[in-house]
Amino acid sequence: MKGLLITIDGPSGAGKSTVSQRLAMLLDYNYIDTGALYRAVALAALSKGCAPDDNENLAKICSHLALRFENTSKGQRLYANGDDITERIRTPEITMLASAISAKSVIREYLMDVQREMGRGGGVVFEGRDMGTVVFPEADIKFYLDADPDTRALRRYKELAEKHAGTSLTEVKGAMKKRDEDDSTRTLAPLKPAHDAIRIDSTYLEIEQVIEAMLEHIGAQTK
Ligand code: DC
Repeated sequence: MKGLLITIDGPSGAGKSTVSQRLAMLLDYNYIDTGALYRAVALAALSKGCAPDDNENLAKICSHLALRFENTSKGQRLYANGDDITERIRTPEITMLASAISAKSVIREYLMDVQREMGRGGGVVFEGRDMGTVVFPEADIKFYLDADPDTRALRRYKELAEKHAGTSLTEVKGAMKKRDEDDSTRTLAPLKPAHDAIRIDSTYLEIEQVIEAMLEHIGAQTK
């Protein structure tokens, strides 16, 4: 049987990454973190000294950028023109720059093609902001994962604290609020649930419970 195309959208800190990766592993599907692709373009722009509003140069950067995921014994890695950029795209600077450039049509159009190519043939779990609304409106199953803002900020803060980043909870909350607002109010492909998405609120749920709920929906849909 052909693998399904599953989309998981939602704001940062809702648990999308962990849930998407585990779900893909359980189903033996590929996992695609589309936020990492936006981060990769942001890193390329930063390293070329390109301003986020310089459309012409952004287009040029995209036309020379080949992005590829690879599953390795060290987990999934992202390569840009052959360079492993997996860790370099996780800085606070890239986080904010990725959000800024994601409002640009030149970037969204370039990444739309990259993502659709990665989804050809199905058997993929796509994690992002506009997977079910714009990139894969015909996806087999769409989820929208959310949680209340305080819970999401606390989760992100704990994650950063584990990496010994010296950021306070108040700073994390502030940055997350700004990014949520930017991501959900932009004109192009704003963050919002698809009309036919299954909405799950993870505020009071453990990861395993979220996955269980998703597997139930997948099972019911494929029966
Ligand atoms: O999921 P993330 O934090 O790695 O995403 C980084 C940024 O990329 C996020 O602020 C918004 C943007 N993004 C997007 O616009 N569309 C997607 N499908 C995924 C991410």
